[in-house]
Amino acid sequence: MSMGGPLVEFEGFTLELRTEQGPLRVLDGVDLRIDEGEVLALVGESGSGKTLCAQSVTRLLGDDRARCTRGGVRLAGVDVFKADERALRRLRGATAGHVFQEPAAALNPVMRVGDQVLESLRLHRPTEATRAEVVRWLARVGIPAPEHRARQYPHELSGGLQQRVAIAIALAPRPRLLVADEPTTALDVTVQAQVLELLRELRREVGMAILLVTHNLGVAESIADRIAVLYAGQVVEEGSAASMLSNPSHPYTRALVAAIPRMGHARGELASVPGGVPAPGSWPGGCRFHPRCPVARPSCAMETPPWTAFAAGHGSRCPYPAGGDRA
Ligand SMILES: Nc1ncnc2c1ncn2[C@@H]1O[C@H](COP(=O)(O)OP(=O)(O)OP(=O)(O)O)[C@@H](O)[C@H]1O
Ligand code: SF4
Ligand SMILES: [Mg+2]
Repeated sequence: MSMGGPLVEFEGFTLELRTEQGPLRVLDGVDLRIDEGEVLALVGESGSGKTLCAQSVTRLLGDDRARCTRGGVRLAGVDVFKADERALRRLRGATAGHVFQEPAAALNPVMRVGDQVLESLRLHRPTEATRAEVVRWLARVGIPAPEHRARQYPHELSGGLQQRVAIAIALAPRPRLLVADEPTTALDVTVQAQVLELLRELRREVGMAILLVTHNLGVAESIADRIAVLYAGQVVEEGSAASMLSNPSHPYTRALVAAIPRMGHARGELASVPGGVPAPGSWPGGCRFHPRCPVARPSCAMETPPWTAFAAGHGSRCPYPAGGDRA
């Protein structure tokens, strides 16, 4: 795929949430980059910090809930955590559209779906032409009988059609980036495959960049140019999709890769590494993965592993390529 310059840049991005117990660090020095037209998949088990990253692209978490304490995020050249509300409003929708896991939650239950697509275009006065454009978008995302569907309310649509509407709402303003957070998880398996195919087509046609959040490395492989693996608020490995799948380095990525063929495995359960992602506030010292790592060595509990690049554009937070049992 042809790529332009950087559209999204996370640099040392560190995020704290305000909680009743005080500030809680939830993302810790995240580096990510998405070029124009590129698809990056962000992968990890439940609780690794994927949604917090996705929401930080346009600072969806309000200042009353979250604070960037180090580094930052740039979207289309704008420093997102320093931008004012006006600049953020311009970025949301026009530059980056969001699609969430639960389509119903993203839709307004008392508004016809066609009007919701129309609203996303933020026109002062809808015309015949813009109404026709709405119907074209509904058709484009694979909704049968779009004129009829445009007049319906969300509850009259299946979950799969609701998610297609949500995608149409995100795409109608022609954003440069689509942020899709587990967009297929709430749908049944056949519909999941259809929605992924739709994203692939739109990406080819419209040429937009996509940040796809998924806990499924198989899904990531099927659509992404690059894959970043998140664990306990940090990126632990990043590389091209092909390189990540054929040559995973970090023991955590290797466990994710090993879990791919077992379709429908329970979320958050990796056969080779029991347990789950430690919650923010209880991240272990040294390598955060060491309590679960099948090849940990004694030093792993003490020393913070440095980022180690071992191929062009492919690196990981484990200094022992292919596992700590070597050398
Ligand atoms: N408001 C909050 N207060 C306290 N902890 C929070 C809050 N929001 C998120 N967290 C914690 O931050 C961590 C990362 O959350 P996040 O939602 O980004 O995970 P995720 O990778 O998207 O997981 P999932 O796959 O379940 O969606 C989790 O441990 C979560 O419990
Ligand atoms: S070998 Fe050590 S540094 Fe590498 S992932 Fe395992 S515990 Fe972490
Ligand atoms: Mg999430």
